[in-house]
Amino acid sequence: MEDLQTLETEITAEINTAADMASLEDIRIAALGKKGRVSLMMRELGKMSVEEKKEFGPRFNGLKMRLNDALADRKALLEEEALNARLQSERIDITLPTSPEMEGSIHPITQVMDEVTEIFTEIGFSVAEGPEIEEDFYNFTALNIPEEHPARQMHDTFYLPEDEEGKRKVLRTHTSPVQIRTMMAGPPPYRIIAPGRTYRCDSDATHTPMFHQVEALVIDKNIHMGHLKWSIEEFCRRFFELDNVKIRFRPSYFPFTEPSAEVDIGCTFKDGEIVIGDGDDWLEIMGCGMVNPRVLENVDLDPNEYQGFAFGMGLDRIAMLKWGIPDLRDFFAADLRWLKHYGFAALDIPSLSTHGKKADDKAAPAARKGK
Ligand code: DAH
Repeated sequence: MEDLQTLETEITAEINTAADMASLEDIRIAALGKKGRVSLMMRELGKMSVEEKKEFGPRFNGLKMRLNDALADRKALLEEEALNARLQSERIDITLPTSPEMEGSIHPITQVMDEVTEIFTEIGFSVAEGPEIEEDFYNFTALNIPEEHPARQMHDTFYLPEDEEGKRKVLRTHTSPVQIRTMMAGPPPYRIIAPGRTYRCDSDATHTPMFHQVEALVIDKNIHMGHLKWSIEEFCRRFFELDNVKIRFRPSYFPFTEPSAEVDIGCTFKDGEIVIGDGDDWLEIMGCGMVNPRVLENVDLDPNEYQGFAFGMGLDRIAMLKWGIPDLRDFFAADLRWLKHYGFAALDIPSLSTHGKKADDKAAPAARKGK
């Protein structure tokens, strides 16, 4: 019988120098497998006298235990090394300048935000911002949605825990509170858009708990519904890149506008695909209206002197329509294949910019190139 001590020293040395998981497994089988060196020796136990068994039994068991421990330690070490090597090789230095070889792309939501901003800034709007963690006053009350108003229930609001004063902040349910913040920050006229993230407790193919909206607000003397209609039509023409878009205004209700309307855009459904612009079907794309005099009063503006319009639209939704993206949840799945297909080239100029570019000289987004 081999000397147990020598055996242990040899096998332990092999374990501790195993270069990878495959060789470690080979070493384990050669030692502790059915026909392994240790297992074969243990078979000798059967032939031993009771006295010998008493001595060798515990020695074999101790050996087996120590070898198993050494195997487990080596395995843990190799796994850690493999993980570190992977982290090292997959590391991305995001501070490096972009280069054509880099895989990054512009997310369709970012692209839509850029395009919407481009269109509205070209027709005289500026961009306003507000916090995503919002006070009840701006998100609801000042927008003529008082405590008991049924619209509060419709918003599936995420509430934060109460603060010391017993007030609960909310994750803003729409971008409309930016209207209030804008009007309270300085005197009219206002001509702003406010793109950004919004939150509602809702999730299915067309709803995600976080989504994006853009709000628009125009307040001045003598603003009327004709201005609203033109702004929206002009936006749709430019955004969907169509000379003729069929648009209809359907009477609706929002607490912050009076009168209120929902805007539908003409479309056709062809072979399961939506074609925007013409046809007998309609798709709702935004809510709008003349700012309710009560909202103006809430921010100390005289409704007899100032009037205006507002509208709010889902950015994710218009991105889906423009590029034929079927499921909203994919926007936030961080799937590289999806991003490659629907993403846009980094540093691309928003495709609608007319600054120094001809209309037919547009940057071609990957989404369109791929189709
Ligand atoms: N805030 C509304 C929503 O989230 C959208 C909206 C409708 C905004 C009408 C407006 C408006 O400014 O006038 O559903």
